Amino acid sequence: MNDKILVPPIKCQGIKTKLIPFIRKNVNRDSKGIWIEPFVGTGVVALNIAPSKAILTDKNRYIIKLYQGIQNKSITSQSVRCFLEYHGKELERFGGEYYIQMRNEFNKNGDPLYFLFLNRSDFNGMIRFNRCGQFNVPFCQKPNRFSKAYITKICNQVDMMEKAMDGKDWKFECCSWQKTFAYASANDYIYLDPPYIGRDTSYVGEWPEEEAIALAEYAHETPANVCLSMWKENEFRKNDHLFQYWSDFTWYEQNHFYHIGAKEANRHPMIEVLAIKR
Ligand SMILES: C[S@@+](CC[C@H](N)C(=O)[O-])C[C@H]1O[C@@H](n2cnc3c(N)ncnc32)[C@H](O)[C@@H]1O
Repeated sequence: MNDKILVPPIKCQGIKTKLIPFIRKNVNRDSKGIWIEPFVGTGVVALNIAPSKAILTDKNRYIIKLYQGIQNKSITSQSVRCFLEYHGKELERFGGEYYIQMRNEFNKNGDPLYFLFLNRSDFNGMIRFNRCGQFNVPFCQKPNRFSKAYITKICNQVDMMEKAMDGKDWKFECCSWQKTFAYASANDYIYLDPPYIGRDTSYVGEWPEEEAIALAEYAHETPANVCLSMWKENEFRKNDHLFQYWSDFTWYEQNHFYHIGAKEANRHPMIEVLAIKR
């Protein structure tokens, strides 16, 4: 298998880029089955597994819209370049005020290009919405964020994403994870990377314990194979949920650093587990 790691145009806290070799090594699937990700996030895992058939879903409709746009070619590296060059210059002129203006606009128009602009110029590439669904991550405080080289890097990532999907049967959908499970049958492989339980990260909405428990139940009941990514422990804490609900799966472990997140505990090494059903 190709060792190169492809990097998508979107960033998020908990992005699995660094864990790709570990995931590739341990995921053993029937390549005729469907690769299913109910929490696709940035898409980095699907991008690097490169299945011919995939169902990629998330509650974040802006990521889904962006990837649907790249897939149907209504969003191209050229349209991204024009957008980022124009707004990048305005950002350089007006600084943080312009970032807030773009964020306010985005919270009204929901445009995936605005989402990309914000994601690539916000604090630490975070994705966070308040309870009313408004994107609320602050500015990275670098008015010259969109340098020529940075725009080219993002455009290359968009291009690469387009090529990765080309000719493949990938379906992107904004929906609940419960709905995504209903697509799965015996030869399929479900990769689960839900929001972190017991750690202070808010993606879209919340991830209450009842949802985490329901997810474990669905994962056990589905006829498909399942691989869960989840933190196990660090020097301060242990993830009781993993031990309580996933201990009958086979665990593969790796040390991992989460660089995103202001909290002290997030900067310490974490043991990350892949819990695989069979
Ligand atoms: C840990 S992130 C996934 C990261 C992804 N594997 C990556 O490497 O980029 C969790 C994702 O779950 C999504 N999410 C949160 N709650 C959800 C829900 N109830 N239903 C579906 N998706 C949800 C978030 O929008 C976020 O993209």
